[in-house]
Formats: sequence, structure tokens, C-alpha cells
Amino acid sequence: GLSVSAAFSRRPALTGAELRSDLPLPSAFRVPLPVPPVLKPVSTSGGVDRYEITQRVESAEILPGHRTPLWTYDGTFPGPTIEARRGRPVSITHRNELPVPTVVHLHGGRTAPDSDGYPTDLVLPEEWQEGHGAHGGGHKMSDPRAVVTRVTRRYTFPMDQRPTLLWYHDHRMDFTAPAIWQGLAGLHVVRDDAEDALGLPSGRRELPLMITDRAFADSGALVYPAIDRTLRTRPGVRGAYLGGVLGDVILVNGAPWPVHEVDAVRYRLRFLNASNSRHYDLEAIGPDGRRLDLVQVGSDQGLLAAPVTHRRLPIAPAERYDVVVDFADVPVGGMVRIANRLGSGRTGDVMAFRVARRAADGSRVPRVLSTDLPTWRRSEAVRTREFSFRAGRMHGDHGWLIGGLPFDPARSDVKVGLGDVEVWRLVADVHHPVHLHLVGFRVLSRSGRKPLPQDAGLKDTVSLRPGESAEIITRFDGYRGRYLFHCHNAEHEDMGMMANLEIT
Ligand code: C2O
Ligand code: CU
Repeated sequence: GLSVSAAFSRRPALTGAELRSDLPLPSAFRVPLPVPPVLKPVSTSGGVDRYEITQRVESAEILPGHRTPLWTYDGTFPGPTIEARRGRPVSITHRNELPVPTVVHLHGGRTAPDSDGYPTDLVLPEEWQEGHGAHGGGHKMSDPRAVVTRVTRRYTFPMDQRPTLLWYHDHRMDFTAPAIWQGLAGLHVVRDDAEDALGLPSGRRELPLMITDRAFADSGALVYPAIDRTLRTRPGVRGAYLGGVLGDVILVNGAPWPVHEVDAVRYRLRFLNASNSRHYDLEAIGPDGRRLDLVQVGSDQGLLAAPVTHRRLPIAPAERYDVVVDFADVPVGGMVRIANRLGSGRTGDVMAFRVARRAADGSRVPRVLSTDLPTWRRSEAVRTREFSFRAGRMHGDHGWLIGGLPFDPARSDVKVGLGDVEVWRLVADVHHPVHLHLVGFRVLSRSGRKPLPQDAGLKDTVSLRPGESAEIITRFDGYRGRYLFHCHNAEHEDMGMMANLEIT
């Protein structure tokens, strides 16, 4: 059986607990890298691209020779990719045919509050009756402000924002982590003419890479503590997985340790860490053991001002890094391994590229990538706030708190004025990737020192390392209404580490 003994220890684990799969795992770099299908709009009239997505159970062959039942957007994991143009609104009707209520959130989207996927703003499956509240791990439907829509729900995204790689995922209260784990995540790309004109690698030479970890039972099914009945009812489970759920299989675009054939030219790799709680520290290792440069051109919220070259790139849950790698110096037939320095054994590998042939390269990485990055100054800030992100007690159990409190949809936590610039100081006990909805921000400092090289550009998720504090600055503009900020370790989020952000 699955090794779950860690689940029964009494001492809470503040770092993620790894589930071990009960299936023989495939050898690395054999399965070809899939690229998620791009969804076709059902109509494009009136300057709006309209899409329909059905959320349904579907099984897929993830480990060769085994079927894995998943919760999917339109039958695939990752879900279909939405390709959007800046300033051209996208409208997506989601239909829920899953056995559980869902909530769709476009991560990094500049979205009005009614389409932002508040955690109690549910899309209910047909059969769902109120009163099934205990099903699937303690979800609550008691918030009087919950807007309950049945079966289908239309979400509108203005796409009035810098081009970047966004992603959509489930966001239901107390149940986000298992829902994402079961497959509810997809990519959403925003582009514009200015970015297209830069000459970065494109077409087949631009690849989205959604990295996740999972664990598999011997039936081929994914295993997750909160939705496995035998695990859920045992005491101590919550404590064991307080730090987060880790799997022993690394998937890229839903395939285990895949391989991709490339020309000996530049590629644009758009990394997203969509794992629940696993952090990676990525490096590209050539056949001679030398590390290739990771030339970062963009961050969570789009292009940097100028490229930043890394030898390794830490990536926390929900972060995106837009990176150009040049395979020109790799001999034909050579393999470049994307490794994870934070992993051990099999989790130390992510995927590989095999250089198949020489080819002409018309791409370039310009020295100036963008000139529209906001440059908010401290002196503009009307307020400085501080929030602690720490373990604590929640309803008599272990939980995760912001400013000493677990999430409560009925409470108002922070009210900011529309258009105000604020500095927030975020203080962490253990590793917490902190995400703000609606706005992009800049990182001003880390523990009183200057930001890290990978903090460049406009972020929507900042990876706070253990014991660290970070200052961020942003302007709360766009829309009035109720949004969120939270830890994007999905288990931390489900165990209370989320707060309301009201823009008034
Ligand atoms: Cu990616 Cu509030 O989430
Ligand atoms: Cu956290």
C-alpha cells in the first residue's frame, strides 16, 4: 500500500510530507513532452472571445500502462490553454459535471470581483444539494454573502493587462489543494503586438512548462490525504500534512519526467510551478555537466525591463518564470537535463531536452524588453502594513494564520482605497509563497537587504523563505470590491492562510 505512516504521527510537520507511489515509476526522459491543446473560441463576435469549458471526470494515461481518473477542465490535464490578446475580453462559461462544487480563479488576472472566483462563489454540480457540506473535507456554505450559481457560470476577463503567462485553477474554500491535485489547472496566455515584435523565440520554439508533483496508488489513481476516506478519518492526518502534500513523481504538462526534441537554437521556456507545495530550484545541465544560462525575460506579471541571467532559478508554487535557453553549443544528440537542486533521488530531475539537429535561429533577446514597468516609490505609499504568516491554532486544530487569524469569509481584514499605493511587510515562519489577487507588485527588500535577482519585474507571488520578511509595493487600482491574499502553498491556503482584501 501507499506509505502513509507519516500521517499517523502526532507531531505536526511544518515541511511538506511526501507521499510515495505504489506503482513502479517510469524511467526518466522517455515520455514525450505534451503541450496542452489551445482552446478554440465558440464565438469571436463583438470583440469578445467566448469559450466553453466543461469540468468533468476523465481518465488519462499519465504513467505508461495505467489509467488515472482526474478532475479535468474539458477532459485534459493540464486543461486547455486560453490564448488571449491584450485588451480583447475573454468570456468563459464553465459547466460543472464533477462530483464536487468548484470555483474558477484566473491567477494573475486583472479581473472584476464578480469573476475573480471568490472561494464561496460556487459552481454547483447538478446533483448537489445544500447540506452535503461535510463532503470532501469540511467545506462551508454558511457564508450569507456566498453567490451560489448552479451548474454553469460565466466568467469575464477584460485582459486589460501586461502580456504574461497566467493560469486558471480551482479556488474553493478549504478544498483548493485537493481540487488542483486532482487536475483542475490550466494555462492562459496573454500577448500583445509589442511583445510579438521583440523577436523572442516563438511558435514551436516557445514552450509552456507546467511543473507539478503527484503520487499514484497501485490502481493508477492519484492519492491525496483529504479525499482518501481511510486517511481522512484518521487522527493526526492534518498535523502530518500541515506543511503540505508532496508527490514522488514530477510531471511537466502532465507527463512524468518527459523529454522534448529541440533544434540547436534558442527556446523560450515559460515555467509555471503549479505544484501544491513543492518548491524547485531549476538548473539546465548540459551533456558535459556544464550549466546552461537561464536568461530570464519575464516574471509573474510579464516582461522584465532587461534580461537577467541565472545559473539556477528557485521557483515557488504559483510563480512563473519566462526564460530563454540557447541550445546552440550543445552537440547534436546531446541531452540537457532540467534538474531540481531541492529534490533528492527521482525528484531531483524534472525533464530533459534532446538536441536533434542544427538549425537557423532568427530569434533574439533584446537588451531592452519593456519600458512600462511601474516604478512606485516608497514616498508615494499612503500606508505601510505588516502581516505575519505563521503556524497556529485554528478551530482547535493545527492551522496557518495571517496576522494571527485563520481565513473567515465573513470578516473584513484589510480595506485599501482604490488607487492607493501601499507598502506591505510580509513576515514568514517557514517557506510561504504569498500571492495577492488583482494587482502586480514590486519587491522592495528581503529581510532589510536588497531583493534577489529573480525578484526583478512585476510579481504577483513572492516566495518568502523561512524566517524571512519581504517588503512589497503596489498600487491597488483596477476595481473596487472584495479580493484575497494568501499563501499559495495550497495546503497552507486550505488550512486557513488566506485573508480578505477589500478595495473601496
Ligand atoms: Cu493562484 Cu488565489 O490563487
Ligand atoms: Cu504558506
